Amino acid sequence: MKQETKPDLLDAIFSGIDTIRYDIKQIRDRDPAAKSDLEVALLYSGFHAVTVHRLSHILHKRGYHFTARAISQSMKFFTGIEIHPGAKIGKGVFIDHGTGVVIGETAEVGDNCTIYQGATLGGTGKHAGKRHPTLGNNVMVGAGAKVLGPFTVGSGTKIAAGAVVLDAVPENSTAVGIPARVVRIGNVKTSALDQIHIPDPVSQELCKLNARIDKLEKQLAAKEKLLAALQEKKQQKESQSKKKG
Ligand SMILES: CC(C)(COP(=O)(O)OP(=O)(O)OC[C@H]1O[C@@H](n2cnc3c(N)ncnc32)[C@H](O)[C@@H]1OP(=O)(O)O)[C@@H](O)C(=O)NCCC(=O)NCCS
Repeated sequence: MKQETKPDLLDAIFSGIDTIRYDIKQIRDRDPAAKSDLEVALLYSGFHAVTVHRLSHILHKRGYHFTARAISQSMKFFTGIEIHPGAKIGKGVFIDHGTGVVIGETAEVGDNCTIYQGATLGGTGKHAGKRHPTLGNNVMVGAGAKVLGPFTVGSGTKIAAGAVVLDAVPENSTAVGIPARVVRIGNVKTSALDQIHIPDPVSQELCKLNARIDKLEKQLAAKEKLLAALQEKKQQKESQSKKKG
């Protein structure tokens, strides 16, 4: 393990302080209810969870897994927010209200994302490796939304409250519902867009089904043709043997 020299440590401390200042500023910019920096620093559980996570993440990266996990579980007890020490959290991330938020081990959250209470950035299986989502920058995950799997949610995207996202979502879009579908890209409703270029998972599945039905119909027709030919041959043989007899 690399021994940290004093200037490295000082750099790390100063950059940590800068990050904390930036986090507080971002929360004040995004939450009209925040009246002072002191209020955010002392009373915002989302800020506490993210700040302490930065420490547990450093410990996790240096191999102190048990200590890192113990810190993250203590923060879960105090804030109701569970962030696995392995998760990568960007600058200016704001977990608003926060109770019930769960962020998994291999999740990555870009800069300036906002995550509301009850949201989950989770996995869908028990396999090791990347199994949690990656959020770009400036993503909003609404209250109670579940984002499940190792895919990317593009920067600037909004995940609606209560949505269950199971597939990648493009940048600057809005995804709603269960399973989530993209209803806006940019500021344009997808219903008003060229249907061919919408990454709509439902219509993509329908297209796949249609292609499969076409293939099966062709196979069936070929088999029926073969069967008819065999029957014709059989009949010819029978009539020939009758004539001989
Ligand atoms: C999705 C959201 C961000 C709005 O994004 P938007 O890009 O402005 O989208 P719109 O409001 O134009 O809605 C687009 C469509 O999605 C629907 N929609 C919006 N939110 C939805 C939701 N949570 N669930 C299901 N459908 C939703 C709208 O009814 C609209 O449908 P339509 O096209 O048939 O009219 C917002 O509705 C939302 O869910 N925000 C979460 C905020 C939150 O969790 N706050 C917690 C505070 S404590």
